[in-house]
Amino acid sequence: MRILFVASEGLPFSKTGGLADVLAGLPKALVALGHEVAVVLPRSRGSVEAARVTPRVVVPSLTIGLGDQLRFPVVLGDMVLDGVQYFLVDDPGYFDREFLYGDAAGDYPDNAERYATLSRTAIEIAKQVWSPDVIHCHDWQAALVPVLLRTVYAGDPALAAVRCVLTVHNLGYHGQFPHAALARIGLPESLFHMDRLEFYGDINYLKGGLIHADYLTTVSRRYAAEIQTREVGHGLDGVLAKRADRLVGILNGADYAEWNPAADPRTVAPFSAEDLAGKRLCRADLLSEYGLPDAAGPVLGMVSRLVDHKGFDLVAGALDALVGLGLTIVLLGSGEARYETAFREFAKRHPKRMGVRIGYDDKLAHKIIAGSDMFLMPSHEEPSGLTQLYSLRYGTVPIVRATGGLDDSIEAHNPPRAVGTGFRFTDYTTDAMIDCVRRARATFDDRPRWRQLQLAGMTKDFAWPRSARAYLEVYDAARALTADQLV
Ligand code: ADP
Ligand code: GLC
Repeated sequence: MRILFVASEGLPFSKTGGLADVLAGLPKALVALGHEVAVVLPRSRGSVEAARVTPRVVVPSLTIGLGDQLRFPVVLGDMVLDGVQYFLVDDPGYFDREFLYGDAAGDYPDNAERYATLSRTAIEIAKQVWSPDVIHCHDWQAALVPVLLRTVYAGDPALAAVRCVLTVHNLGYHGQFPHAALARIGLPESLFHMDRLEFYGDINYLKGGLIHADYLTTVSRRYAAEIQTREVGHGLDGVLAKRADRLVGILNGADYAEWNPAADPRTVAPFSAEDLAGKRLCRADLLSEYGLPDAAGPVLGMVSRLVDHKGFDLVAGALDALVGLGLTIVLLGSGEARYETAFREFAKRHPKRMGVRIGYDDKLAHKIIAGSDMFLMPSHEEPSGLTQLYSLRYGTVPIVRATGGLDDSIEAHNPPRAVGTGFRFTDYTTDAMIDCVRRARATFDDRPRWRQLQLAGMTKDFAWPRSARAYLEVYDAARALTADQLV
């Protein structure tokens, strides 16, 4: 099968979060299963350099009509990594920027045009350069692809057999713009309709994608159910519930080539389930990296975007209690200023108990996941989550709120009935979180029991092939749809 991926970020070209990990791991796994895969990404600043590739121009200049203006993106190609073909949409006015989606002032004001250009160009690539059986789009930034396919491009013979799958990585981000943006991206007013793109008087890319894609997936089974409820539906639960028969939850995989404690170039010492000795060295290295003393209690790590849905309001309200349990806390993240400030100030007051690094740092992320004893993810919502999977592999015991992919992937430590793989709590409250950490803290002191828990996590297999096979079933189901079963 030939599958064309479309997304706003992907390793090794660009990354702000887990989407980029998925855009690397899943295509590779599909290729290993014998399929042909190409990936379309914007050429963001530094991406060609980061991937160390030498692209060639494969389409010198497309003409994309966006309302009053014409854009002329160039398509770069001829890049093959791990058997996956890459195409970059090179439109410097839109994509050669310091950040991917916005800066300190907020989202870039032309995001509607930027990602309309990505989607239009991706469809032109499918028509002119690399004809796929399935286009697999990701999140709102690529959600116009299904809308365009089933409206503006409907009846185009070159695309008649193409089926389209949209994956929701986070329902909280919609790509919602004022009605006026519809004309600016050159789409007809007829799409301003509640069964198309309209959403409470605005236009909403994700809603459009959810309605027009042939199949929908999201990144865990639990989240697939949650997003059909009012509580987690972000106003789109009704749309999703209507499409429940075409919605599938598939947990993300972990790329164990990148996240392997036995051969990780970013950590100081290798270790494995057979020989954990190196983990102590990784822990010492982590503490010295943060200038923290080597305390007897456990090191609790966090690596995350510092945004609301990750549960940082709970953490901010619990720092005294956590430190009171004898934990040493290390945090790496960036995001909302109020969290950055709160954590920095706490660390300043407790320089021996908490280390904070604000920013994005891949190497340090590996060091934290390798060197910590526990990893905290108290997310309010977590569609899949990847860092808990990486933590399991590194013998770093996850403490999670049982939501979305955290619920799908972490089994409760519940002796004597179950060793499990981590600690879970349900209520979204500071008390429930602290209570859960307290249980983990007590178990940590029982060394044989802790070791058993670490090993149970390290030997779990969340590699990509299983998820890739589940996606293949979805692609097959989409391909089996007849024309009258499309939107
Ligand atoms: P999300 O996509 O919601 O941010 P995931 O758990 O799916 O959450 O993926 C996050 C990915 O981004 C992981 O690979 C994690 O290591 C990485 N990451 C997040 N924040 C940082 C950071 N500040 N520095 C380095 N890597 C980070
Ligand atoms: C989103 C979600 C995260 C998921 C990632 C990749 O950023 O917040 O839970 O793992 O996408 O699917």
